[in-house]
Amino acid sequence: MFVLSISSLKGGVGKTTVTLGLASAAWARGLRTLVVDLDPQSDVSTGLDARAQDGATISDVLRSPKPSTVRAAIARSAWGEGSRGVIDLMVGSPAALSFDTPNPSIREIWRLEEALAVVEEDYDLVLIDCPPSLNALTRTAWAASDRVAVVTEPGLFSVAAADRALRAVDEIRRELSPRLQPLGIIVNRAKHQSLEHQFRLGELRDMFGPLVLSPALPERTSLQQAQGAAKPVHLWPGSSAEEMAANFDKLLDRIMRAGRLGTYAEAPATGDDEAPVTRGRQRGRSNT
Ligand SMILES: Nc1ncnc2c1ncn2[C@@H]1O[C@H](COP(=O)(O)OP(=O)(O)OP(=O)(O)O)[C@@H](O)[C@H]1O
Ligand SMILES: [Mg+2]
Repeated sequence: MFVLSISSLKGGVGKTTVTLGLASAAWARGLRTLVVDLDPQSDVSTGLDARAQDGATISDVLRSPKPSTVRAAIARSAWGEGSRGVIDLMVGSPAALSFDTPNPSIREIWRLEEALAVVEEDYDLVLIDCPPSLNALTRTAWAASDRVAVVTEPGLFSVAAADRALRAVDEIRRELSPRLQPLGIIVNRAKHQSLEHQFRLGELRDMFGPLVLSPALPERTSLQQAQGAAKPVHLWPGSSAEEMAANFDKLLDRIMRAGRLGTYAEAPATGDDEAPVTRGRQRGRSNT
């Protein structure tokens, strides 16, 4: 099971959109995927069209990650009804806000890792949609993750926020979880005809080199339409949705390479590839 956090320290740049797009690509590819809605706004829960049957949510899991609670907080997305892969959701809740404190204890930070250990055998991929801050919830997500994808727009303040996020990932890796690494930066809402965006894309590549992932995602209303209808973009009609589905497929290829998932057989990885991910929950746990 490979765990990826989708993060940014800036709001509204496309974390949930990227989570839903990657979930759609994983679903289309037949992976067993769990999406964790760690954002109290719970947008990804809406986009996946899933509701926990007995009302349990991520907030109950963070209070007490017992196996029965973890399983009760997981619901099947309506996406899964038409075969292909499995998409499940650890249901989000506004009540998760009470866990987003600035100074969490070590025990609190490892709660999601403990919860995911319960379902280690059930999924190939876990995608965590994070809130836009570096408080307890994001740190809880990172402690449970193998990699972090940082989402940014090609604008001045967003580039600075991406830099802060990568530094924060580095800090958490050094202080808390040695297995944590950045997957890279996903650039969203790129307008290729905008000179400002071209400049910022160049700036990102100068600053972060191969950590800037390809392709950059353009702005497309088909994404908003698929989200509004709570459908995977891979099922949405039209050439624009097809283009976005292909973009998310390519980003998923990169994730599968990082996680050595399935029978992935693409061109050999480039120099930006990392060491293989070690398997087994709780392996990165440190109580220091
Ligand atoms: N590439 C895109 N093309 C078109 N619309 C987009 C794109 N990316 C994001 N959006 C839209 O922009 C809005 C904000 O995106 P999203 O909710 O994914 O951001 P977020 O980072 O999750 O926000 P928050 O920080 O509030 O959780 C949404 O309405 C979404 O549909
Ligand atoms: Mg969001």
